[in-house]
Amino acid sequence: MTASNDHSMHTATCGELTATDIGRQVTLTGWVGHRRDHGGLIFVDLRDREGKTQCVFDPEVLSPELFANGERMRPEWVILVQGAVRERPDGTINPNMKTGEIEVLLTDVSILNVAKTPPFPIENGIETDELTRLRWRYIDIRRPEVLSALRLRSQITGAIHAALNKRDFIEVETPILGKSTPEGARDFLVPARQAAGSFYALPQSPQLYKQLLMVAGLERYYQIAKCFRDEDLRADRQPEFTQIDLEMSFITQEDILGLMEEVLAEVLAPLGVELDLPLKRMTYDESMRRFGNDRPDVRFGFELVDISELVANCGFKVFSAAVAAGGVVKAINAKGAGDLSRGEIDKIAAVATDHGAGGMAWIAFTSAGEEKSPIIKFLGDDVLNAIKLALDVAPGDLVCFGADSFDVVSAALSAVRLYLADALGEQLGIRRDGHNFMWIVDFPMFKYDNVEKRYAANHHPFTRIKDEHLQKLETAPLECGSYSYDLVMDGYEVGGGTLRIHNEDLQLRVLRQLGFSEEQAREQFGFLLEALAFGAPPHGGIALGLDRLVMLLGGHESIRDVIAFPKTSSGSDPLTQAPSSVDARQLRELGLRIS
Ligand code: AMO
Ligand code: AMP
Repeated sequence: MTASNDHSMHTATCGELTATDIGRQVTLTGWVGHRRDHGGLIFVDLRDREGKTQCVFDPEVLSPELFANGERMRPEWVILVQGAVRERPDGTINPNMKTGEIEVLLTDVSILNVAKTPPFPIENGIETDELTRLRWRYIDIRRPEVLSALRLRSQITGAIHAALNKRDFIEVETPILGKSTPEGARDFLVPARQAAGSFYALPQSPQLYKQLLMVAGLERYYQIAKCFRDEDLRADRQPEFTQIDLEMSFITQEDILGLMEEVLAEVLAPLGVELDLPLKRMTYDESMRRFGNDRPDVRFGFELVDISELVANCGFKVFSAAVAAGGVVKAINAKGAGDLSRGEIDKIAAVATDHGAGGMAWIAFTSAGEEKSPIIKFLGDDVLNAIKLALDVAPGDLVCFGADSFDVVSAALSAVRLYLADALGEQLGIRRDGHNFMWIVDFPMFKYDNVEKRYAANHHPFTRIKDEHLQKLETAPLECGSYSYDLVMDGYEVGGGTLRIHNEDLQLRVLRQLGFSEEQAREQFGFLLEALAFGAPPHGGIALGLDRLVMLLGGHESIRDVIAFPKTSSGSDPLTQAPSSVDARQLRELGLRIS
C-alpha cells in the first residue's frame, strides 16, 4: 500500500502490483490505454501516474452489460475497476514492467468518464511537434517522460526546503507587484488601477527585498521565487522562471560558497549525482582566456590558445593587423576534424561569423599528411611550425583561427568550440559524460557598454567591490574586481551571486559610476539607500536557476521540458492563448488606451 492509496477511490495504483499481491482483491482507477481483443477475452492496459496494469475482461466472470463496457471502451476513458490479482499465463509475463508478472481479473467495471481521441499517443519518444504538445499540455503531461520531469522538479524543491530549513533559513515570500529591480532585462509592467498612470513591475528577482530583509535582521532568508524578465527567449530562458533565492548576513564569500556546496551535495546525492567537494574554481579571467566565455563546459578540451605573439609579424595581414590594433589572434585545435570536407569547414566558419567574427581562417592537417588552408601560403614555415607546436598539432587535426579584439575572438571561438561538440561531437569522439559543477569567481565589477556608451554592472549595481580596488572606483572602474561567483554546470550558468554593498555612501558612488545622478539614484533606489543607513549588516547571497538545474539533471534540451505550462519562444501559451486582448471596460478602468 502506498501513501497515494489512502483517501482515494482506489486501493492500489496501476504501478505497484507484483507477484506478492497474487490473490489480492483490488480497486484500480485510471485511463484506458492499449486494448486487445483475444478470442473472447479483452485485455486493457489501465494507466495512472504510477504505471500500467493489465486488466482482463472475461465473459465467464462479468455480466453481459459489464463485458460490453470492455468492448466499447476507447483510449483515455476514465474507469474504476475491481478484481483479483492473478499470475499471468506462461509466455505473457513481461519482465520489463514492474507489474509484468500479474494481471487483474475484473469482477466489476465503472466508466467514470469518456474521452475524445487524444491528439497524439500517450507514450514516450513521440514525434509530435512541440506546439501541438503544448496546445494539449494536460494530455502531454500524461506521458511518463513529461511527468517524470515535473516529479524531478518537485523532488528537488522538496530537498531544497529541507536542506535550508535545517540550516536555519527563514522562508519569506516577497511581493510580485513591486517596484522594478534592474537585473539587466526589460520589466513586465502591471497598470495600477488606483493610481492611474502608475505601474507595478513584476520582479526580475527578489534582489532588493532580500537585502531589506537582511537590514531587518533575518540573517538567513530563502525563497523559491518566481521571477519575470521580458527578454528574447531561448532554450534556456523563459519570461517567467524560478529561482532558488537566498541571502545571508555576517558571512564571507567562503561561507556562502561552502554552504551552497553542502546544500547541493545533499540535494543531488539522492539523484545519484556525487559532488567532488570543494568544487573547482576558476577566475573569470582564466575562463575567458581558455574558453572564451564565463560558463565553460570543461568536460572537453579544444581550448583557445593565444598565438598573438607568434603571428604579430607574419605575412598574413589579417593576423598582424589585429595584433597591431591591440587585438588578439587565438586558435582552437579541433582534434580529429582535419579530414572534414570543405563544406563542413565552411559551416564551422559560418558559426564564427554568425557570432561576430570577420572570418575564420583555418588549416586542415589531413590524416594523409597534407596541409590544406586558404592562408598557409602567407604564413611561412617558421610561423607554421610555431603554430603547430603551440597547438600540439597532429595529422587529422583542424586549426581554426580568430583575429580581432579579445571580445570578438572570444565570442566567435567559444561558439565554434561548442558547435564542434554539439554538431560534430560524436564524429570527433568528444565525450561529455556525467555532470560538471564549478564556480567562476572574481568577475570585474563593471563592463563597458559600447552601445549605451557607459559602464554597466557585470552582475548588478548592489555588488561589493573588492576592498583593495575601492580606490580605483572613480579612476579605473574596469580594473575593479568584485566579490562575485557564478555556479556553472555543464556549460550553463545555473546560479549567480555576490556579496553586497552595505554602506550608503559606497552604494551611491557605484550608482554614480553607472551614470546615475544622486537625484536619479534616490528616485529609483531611495528606499534601499535609506535602509543601508539604518544599520545594514554585511550580507550576500546567491540565486540558482531552478529550471536550468532540473533541465540539466533530467537530461532535457530545453527548460520548457521542465515547466508545467511553459511559453513558446514568442512568449505565448498555446493552451490558454495568453497573452490575449482585454475588453474596453477593463482598459477604461485602468486609464489605458491602446495606440
Ligand atoms: P541572475 O540574474 O544571475 O542573478 O539570475 C540567477 C539565475 O537565474 C537563472 N535565470 C534564468 N532562468 C531561466 N530563464 C531566465 N530568463 C533566466 N534568467 C536568469 C540563471 C541565473 O544564474 N538577484 C541575482 C542573484 C543574487 O545576486 O543573489 C540574480 O537574479 O540560472
Ligand atoms: P581573405 O584574405 O579575406 O580572403 O581571408 C582569408 C582567410 O582569413 C579566410 O579563411 C577568412 O575567413 C579568414 N579571415 C578573415 N578575417 C578573419 C578574422 N578576423 N579572423 C580570422 N580569420 C579571418
